[in-house]
Amino acid sequence: MATLKDKLISPIAEGAKLPNNKITIVGVGQVGMAAAISVLAKGLCDELALVDVMEDKLKGEMMDLQHGSLFLHTHKIVADKDYAVTANSKIVVVTAGVRQQEGESRLNLVQRNVNVFKFIIPQVVKYSPNCIILVVSNPVDILTYITWKLSGLPKNRVIGSGCNLDTARFRYLMSERLGISKQLPWLDLGRAR
Ligand SMILES: NC(=O)c1ccc[n+]([C@@H]2O[C@H](COP(=O)([O-])OP(=O)(O)OC[C@H]3O[C@@H](n4cnc5c(N)ncnc54)[C@H](O)[C@@H]3O)[C@@H](O)[C@H]2O)c1
Repeated sequence: MATLKDKLISPIAEGAKLPNNKITIVGVGQVGMAAAISVLAKGLCDELALVDVMEDKLKGEMMDLQHGSLFLHTHKIVADKDYAVTANSKIVVVTAGVRQQEGESRLNLVQRNVNVFKFIIPQVVKYSPNCIILVVSNPVDILTYITWKLSGLPKNRVIGSGCNLDTARFRYLMSERLGISKQLPWLDLGRAR
């Protein structure tokens, strides 16, 4: 039966079947949502997918972004706990992680997050075998190594956020202390051009 849309609109060309530049964010906690907003504000993708185990929160975050998408360049924003929603991603940012419990050792936390990654990473690779994985969850260096091992991807396609945050903090503190710019000169030049 023809839908209302079919009755009102006659297609003149076939819509795009696959996204050109899809980004997935796994984990919609504070870091995941900050990443999502940054990606959307810079217009880095034509489709954004979100995944989390907390379904209510996931749906709420997706709806907030969808409702704001009028003001963005990315009009397709999807979310699900099923990784099928991430299919054909170019970049997958992993920010999922469990929190340290009171009295829990860092070592125990690592093991719990490794267990979480044992589920996440094979699913990511299953649906986006050509993606680049960017690991943010802590302890980031260990989890990046684990991701590389679990994914079977070449090492140039598994990247950890590494010490970027510490570098940014250090440069900010240096700039405040010395009264100099925290920007790199060549970035400043790029902006001036
Ligand atoms: N690399 C860095 O520079 C850096 C900076 C800040 C935070 N972090 C790390 O990033 C991670 C996230 O931090 P946050 O503040 O957003 O935490 P958060 O607790 O706010 O969010 C974590 C999210 O992960 C989700 N999650 C848990 N298990 C999951 C699973 N199996 N599949 C999918 N989602 C799952 C949770 O439901 C939650 O929404 C932490 O490990 C934190 O230490 C790293």
